[in-house]
Amino acid sequence: MEEGKQYEWHKIAESEADIGFSANGLAELEVVGKKVCIARYEQNLRACAHQCPHAGAKLHQGYLDPQGNIICPLHRYKFSLKNGLNISGEGYFLKTHPLEIREEGVFIGFVKNKGFSF
Ligand code: FES
Repeated sequence: MEEGKQYEWHKIAESEADIGFSANGLAELEVVGKKVCIARYEQNLRACAHQCPHAGAKLHQGYLDPQGNIICPLHRYKFSLKNGLNISGEGYFLKTHPLEIREEGVFIGFVKNKGFSF
């Protein structure tokens, strides 16, 4: 979560178990009409845009490397799920979103007043 940004929180599931991850640790969900990719890596949940910023491949069909970075299924560009950096070096940036596990469920935060860029 970035300092100084205001988030609008949306519940995405009752619990982590309800998210419906595939064997690759990834899931695609729709939240207020927008699709997002959710990743489960060790004990962490992370969220990012559902499409790769390079050529639009569906990231939930990709995979996670041993460090928890997401790798696009199409051309194998690699992105950090912590900050969206394109760590394989092609110069793209993946939109990420904060997730919170609360007593009432799992919530995703979208930056307020900036629209969505998926
Ligand atoms: S579409 Fe993802 S790396 Fe090309």
